[in-house]
Amino acid sequence: MKLWGGRFSASTDAVAETFTASIGFDWRLYEDDIAGSAAHCRMLARQGIISNDDARSILGGLKQVREEIDAGSLEFRADLEDIHTHVESRLHELIGEPAGRLHTARSRNDQVVLDMRMYARRFIIDVGKRLVDVESVLLEQAKRHSDWVMPGYTHFQRAQPIVLGHHLLAYREMLARDFERYRDAYQRVNLLPLGAGALAGVPYPIDREYVAELLGFSGLLSNSLDAVGDRDFVAEVLSANAILMAHVSRLANEITIWVSTEFGFAEIDDRFATGSSIMPQKKNPDVAEIIRGKAGRVYGDLQALLTMLKGLPLAYNNDLQEDKESFFDSCDTVIACTSVMSPLLDSIKFNRRRMRQTAGENFSLATDYADYLAAKGIPFREAHTIVGRMVAWCIEQERTLETLSLEEFRGFSSEFVEDVLRIDLDYSVNMRRGQGGTAPARVEQAAEDAASNVEEQKEWLAAAASELLDLDDLVYRPVAD
Ligand code: ARG
Repeated sequence: MKLWGGRFSASTDAVAETFTASIGFDWRLYEDDIAGSAAHCRMLARQGIISNDDARSILGGLKQVREEIDAGSLEFRADLEDIHTHVESRLHELIGEPAGRLHTARSRNDQVVLDMRMYARRFIIDVGKRLVDVESVLLEQAKRHSDWVMPGYTHFQRAQPIVLGHHLLAYREMLARDFERYRDAYQRVNLLPLGAGALAGVPYPIDREYVAELLGFSGLLSNSLDAVGDRDFVAEVLSANAILMAHVSRLANEITIWVSTEFGFAEIDDRFATGSSIMPQKKNPDVAEIIRGKAGRVYGDLQALLTMLKGLPLAYNNDLQEDKESFFDSCDTVIACTSVMSPLLDSIKFNRRRMRQTAGENFSLATDYADYLAAKGIPFREAHTIVGRMVAWCIEQERTLETLSLEEFRGFSSEFVEDVLRIDLDYSVNMRRGQGGTAPARVEQAAEDAASNVEEQKEWLAAAASELLDLDDLVYRPVAD
């Protein structure tokens, strides 16, 4: 049975039917579709648009359809196009005539946006929880290693010593901003499109506020054409996903570098590494590599969505159906990557000795000597030149700065006095104790601040989730007379 068969005399070509069907992927919207239908049905009855008896029978039928799909017993068919049609047609088989009243004052065009918005809300809460997990592991590792000195890099060249905790907290900051992006997008996702109808609104005395309240939306979309015709809320979620993948793939890449023999900074637990089928000695960081590799498809999903939207005339066009595969793929990939990142990170063992040793090589304290001279009153530019000469001399003599005697230091500047001999790795990191710096004491404080930020994130997630909790009740609660 086609929903729209009335004006057609020939049936759809089988190839065209398979080509246009979206049930192969939009079946994933069924819980949201059914909850949305239940809310719509309750509103229709409350407004006297359908009878309470019809509403009861529709809700009873929706409950059964939902149970059948949960159990996997409802067969999906291309001739029934999409999830909306499957639910409605099964409802009709189950309850007969009243099923035909459910679609009063509604179109699949506003219905599908409703489903996508409801799915996106659940996704944001879900990804938010995974982010909190990754952030928490980063925080734990940062606290454990708040004074472990390692080389800091610019241009991928050893630059200045830092502590490992500081490095890990940098990623925590990136993920915290990702969390903020989702939280911010949530406000624009969490708006009700129902009431837009196909495009122009509906000629029934509906109550959109009531539907919004039942479904936990914080407000209404204000223009019917916009409600059915735009997908910027999908683009926002996919952008947040893409930026998050940029961050986790950078972290994944650092892990692959740290565990290389050349670096030797860290070792991944055997549970998160694999071997080679030919080289018996290999232990490969596959999990990190695959996370890094998956960034590309998440960027591609965003690109596909934006390109699909570009140039579409208002309002609904079936091109918009193409939002779903990008959306699901992007969301699934992000959930998979963030889920495996937490135990992977947790399993990493760092090598204190190796990190410290490399941190001291390659004149990494040169800036500290320049800062020392600047503190004695020499203009920094001049101090930079003096230490540059010292470095050149050391390279020539095959010496290191830390091993120069006081006399040798004073040969380059009379401002060098006894206390210059104090400069070492710990001195260097401890000097950087201003806000945002790498001094261990500062890093411990930053970890505490980050922990309270993670607590706030958890509170927001719990509050957002609690507003969605009654969705099941919408389908199961009886209709009062
Ligand atoms: N399957 C469609 C989609 O995903 C649902 C809306 C279809 N509306 C229509 N008039 N064909 O966008």
